[in-house]
Amino acid sequence: MRTITVLFSLLCLYQISTSDGKQQKCDLRGQWRNELGSNMTVESMNNAGFFRGSYMTAVTTQNEMVVKVSPLSGFLNINGKSTVFGFLVKWSFVESVTSWVGQCFVDSNGVEHLETMWLLRGKAQSAGDDWAQTRVGKNVFHRIQ
Ligand code: BTN
Repeated sequence: MRTITVLFSLLCLYQISTSDGKQQKCDLRGQWRNELGSNMTVESMNNAGFFRGSYMTAVTTQNEMVVKVSPLSGFLNINGKSTVFGFLVKWSFVESVTSWVGQCFVDSNGVEHLETMWLLRGKAQSAGDDWAQTRVGKNVFHRIQ
């Protein structure tokens, strides 16, 4: 009976330690790539979950525009070790911004990915043109570093 109790306790301890490890893997810092081939780097994060980084998009809405690395900032909601976040990119090469909201997930092999939805806002020439300037979509990011 005592052996069973000890084994059960060890199993519980193992499960607690591995699930904690998975949470920690969802640290957003590092380099990520989405299904379009865009690269995102999260460089730093403070104790409040505020982070900064850079974004190199693989695609653009603009014709014959040379894309450039653009700055990024966002928040990871750290309440209760949450994996939910939001970030914004101010595009360096065009007058538009994109915001993403999403969550980090870890599969049974310990591989992380970020499921996100985005809103891209471009510049309307007039209020009458406003309807045309917001796009919505989904991006999935995988860690590359
Ligand atoms: C623009 O063309 O106005 C700026 C670049 C927008 C790139 C979009 S943002 C959402 C989607 N995900 C990406 O990685 N790139 C595109």
